[in-house]
Amino acid sequence: MEFPEYVKSEKLRNWVQEMAELCKPDKIHWCDGSEAENKELCDLLVETGTFIRLNPEKRPNSFLSRSDPSDVARVEDRTFICSLAKNDAGPTNNWMDPKEMKSILNGLFDGCMRGRTMYVIPFSMGPLGSYISHIGVELTDSPYVVVNMRIMTRMGKAVFDVLGEDGDFVPCMHSVGMPLEAGQKDIPWPCNKEHKYIVHFPEERSIWSYGSGYGGNALLGKKCFALRIASNIARDEGWLAEHMLILGIESPKGEKTYVAAAFPSACGKTNFAMLIPPDNFEGWKVTTVGDDIAWIKAGPDGKLYAINPEAGFFGVAPGTSDKSNPNAMKSIRENSIFTNVAQTPDGDVWWEGMTKTPPESLIDWQGNQWTPDSGKPAAHPNARFTAPITQCPSVDSEFENPNGVPIKAFIFGGRRSDVVPLVYQAFNWNYGVYMAATMGSETTAAAAGAVGKVRRDPMAMLPFCGYHMADYFNHWLQFGRTLSNPPRIFGVNWFRKDKDGNFIWPGFGENMRVLKWIVERANGQAVSIESPLGWVPRYDDLDWRGLEDFTRDHFHAIMGVDRETWKNEILSHDELFIKLYDRLPKELIFIRELTLSSLWRSPEHWGLATER
Ligand code: GTP
Ligand code: SPV
Ligand code: MN
Repeated sequence: MEFPEYVKSEKLRNWVQEMAELCKPDKIHWCDGSEAENKELCDLLVETGTFIRLNPEKRPNSFLSRSDPSDVARVEDRTFICSLAKNDAGPTNNWMDPKEMKSILNGLFDGCMRGRTMYVIPFSMGPLGSYISHIGVELTDSPYVVVNMRIMTRMGKAVFDVLGEDGDFVPCMHSVGMPLEAGQKDIPWPCNKEHKYIVHFPEERSIWSYGSGYGGNALLGKKCFALRIASNIARDEGWLAEHMLILGIESPKGEKTYVAAAFPSACGKTNFAMLIPPDNFEGWKVTTVGDDIAWIKAGPDGKLYAINPEAGFFGVAPGTSDKSNPNAMKSIRENSIFTNVAQTPDGDVWWEGMTKTPPESLIDWQGNQWTPDSGKPAAHPNARFTAPITQCPSVDSEFENPNGVPIKAFIFGGRRSDVVPLVYQAFNWNYGVYMAATMGSETTAAAAGAVGKVRRDPMAMLPFCGYHMADYFNHWLQFGRTLSNPPRIFGVNWFRKDKDGNFIWPGFGENMRVLKWIVERANGQAVSIESPLGWVPRYDDLDWRGLEDFTRDHFHAIMGVDRETWKNEILSHDELFIKLYDRLPKELIFIRELTLSSLWRSPEHWGLATER
């Protein structure tokens, strides 16, 4: 086999050779990440029908892709953590014996790239050469994956220089699982309808993904590497790999504060990360470091520093508009890939929520004619855009800083139509870990399966923690013990609904009102009172300029804590705890007891009754 002379790593050469012998591709393409290569691949994707070139006047250098209707989201029930010991994966992950899994994978991958090209994608998670960054190499038979990885990561030839002769990398094996037998014609979205496997070997730090071409199943730098494998590395090395956005807030005085926030999939991270403050917040500015993943380490000064290991957004399209998220809309003006959105007659894109009135006719995400009377969405609810972060008008000046940005607060927020108040601050680090560990959220279209069901999603990491969830809680508690001045921890819920099923809180840009209070609390400024769950603002503690019609009554409706509903909530915390019983840190049991006792001490319907 021939290798480019700049590939010096013996380990990499051997692995590629071994994998090529297994997968039996027709050709091997070493990706250099260049503009020319990207153009060539996009042209190829247009030719084979995977890409539709969008109108260059409306959406320069951008493409639409329609996936197979069976391959539209992450497949959690096909995702495995194959640790040597079953219990190291824990009860919230699927597990199979690594030897057994490898024999299955060897069978599936044998000849799986026949008739196709195997692409070698070198990429860095984090700025190239930074001490925080990690290198991966993905082998894939999907050119769609290559062009997406080029946006989502630092991809290209320079990675081989960093790797050198004996650098470390995470091997990421990917195949759509549809070999082309002699003469067989390719289809726009090849995948395997029968077999899908998204597999992690945590001790070996390797990834094997088979059968899907979509998002987190296939762009292996993202969830598989930067969360599931990285969470294992982080536990071993004493840092955090989290499903968190990172944003900066600049006050009118020019003080800059950074916070990181964990919301489950499709629960508003992208929106929050690019928030534009309401008009009345003159002088306040929000800047974006990341919208999905944070790697967080303690610095020599005892503060926490976070980097975004990604270089692009893979954002939920539906609901994104000039009104809800102007920065996202500007980020996707050009050089973007759209998957499973609808196409307009003039060759642009559309999705539910982009405009108030839908266009009269569209081609929907499955390629069929669509009108507003069709009675089904034109874009898939998990339709996504891929766009470079550097195209975002709010990108933070420190986005490329290899030392990261100092984090003052952690925010955790689920999608809950009741029970959980708009905002509260944990009494201390351990209470915060309890709050985050017991976070519940209604499921969304980001994963295959039922939507709208409340499930426990600890730290928004349920689908992404690469080891035993109780060990992960322990890691968080232990991590806090090492910090002299740990970030403050907050809970938020933008999604509480009234009796008629309408959101009580206007959300989006208006979340700035809550964010401002959080930042001031984290900086030891804003006032608050004690609630059964933690410190909360009174009505007058939030800035209501420009939103005066959100009255005290509304505020009470969204902040109330009801003993009876919280009794049930805590029972469901217990369900998670019992599941994790063998390794659950004792601290969490005690905090549950203390929370219960606060609920009994307070009025039965705690509703800021003490407010003057
Ligand atoms: P992943 O990329 O899947 O990890 O998710 P994400 O958290 O980045 O999701 P995103 O920000 O794209 O969430 C999109 C969904 O959240 C859309 O349905 C939005 O309408 C909704 N959303 C975002 N912010 C708000 C808000 O403040 N209030 C309400 N009610 N909905 C919101
Ligand atoms: C998520 O589901 O949390 C995502 C999208 O960020 S995916 O990369 O497909 O996992
Ligand atoms: Mn995500």
